Amino acid sequence: MMEATSQEKPTFPRLGQPAPAFEAQTTHGVLRLEDFKGSWLILFSHPADFTPVCTTEFVAFAEIAPELKKRNVELCGLSIDSTYSHIAWIRNIEQHFGVKIPFPVIADLNKEVATLYGMIMPGESKTETSRCVFVIDPNGILRAMIYYPLTTGRNMQEILRLVDALQTTDKHGVATPANWKPGEKVIVPPPATAEGAEERMKAGFETKDWYFSKKAL
Ligand code: BEZ
Repeated sequence: MMEATSQEKPTFPRLGQPAPAFEAQTTHGVLRLEDFKGSWLILFSHPADFTPVCTTEFVAFAEIAPELKKRNVELCGLSIDSTYSHIAWIRNIEQHFGVKIPFPVIADLNKEVATLYGMIMPGESKTETSRCVFVIDPNGILRAMIYYPLTTGRNMQEILRLVDALQTTDKHGVATPANWKPGEKVIVPPPATAEGAEERMKAGFETKDWYFSKKAL
C-alpha cells in the first residue's frame, strides 16, 4: 500500500491509472480501497462535519444512494474529522432531516488519504478538504474527477449522469456528447484511418461528416 503522511507533498491521481490504494478508519470500521473491487466507487471529500453546505450534500448523497446502488456504485465520504465527530454529525442529520446516511465516512485526521488523492487545496484551506469526487471503476481505475470549492454544493444529477455516461461508454464502446442524458443518441468514435473515413460516410449512422456520427442505442 502506498502511504502518505501530512508532511509529504500531495500526489496527483491521474485519470486512467489505478486509484491510490488506502486503508482507513471509517464509520463502518476499517476499509481499504480493494474492499470495493467489483463495484464502482464514488470517493468524495467534504470540508468539515457540522457545516451547512456539507449537510445539504450528505442528505443529497443519501437520496441518490439507491439510484447508485442500482448501477453497482458504492459511496464513501471523507473529511479531516474524527470518527466520533462523523458519528455525531450523522446522528444529527438523521435527527434534524430524517435521513439516514447509508455510506461509510473516512475519518482522515492524519490527512493520509486526502494527501494521496490531492484533496487539500491550500489556496482554499490548509485544514479542510475541498469538495472532490473520484469515480473509480470495478477494476480500481480512476475514471473521473470533479473538484468544487468550499462554498459550492455539488450537483447530484450531474454525478449520476457522469456514472451513466461512463457505464454507457464501457458497455457500448461509444462516447457521449455535451449535456447527454440516458436515452439520447451517443457519439460513434471517429475513424482513425482515411479508409475508415471513407467507409464512415456509408455506415448508416447519423453522420454530419466523416468525423461526426451519432447513433441511437
Ligand atoms: C459548508 O459546508 O457550509 C462550508 C464548509 C466550509 C466552508 C464554507 C462552507
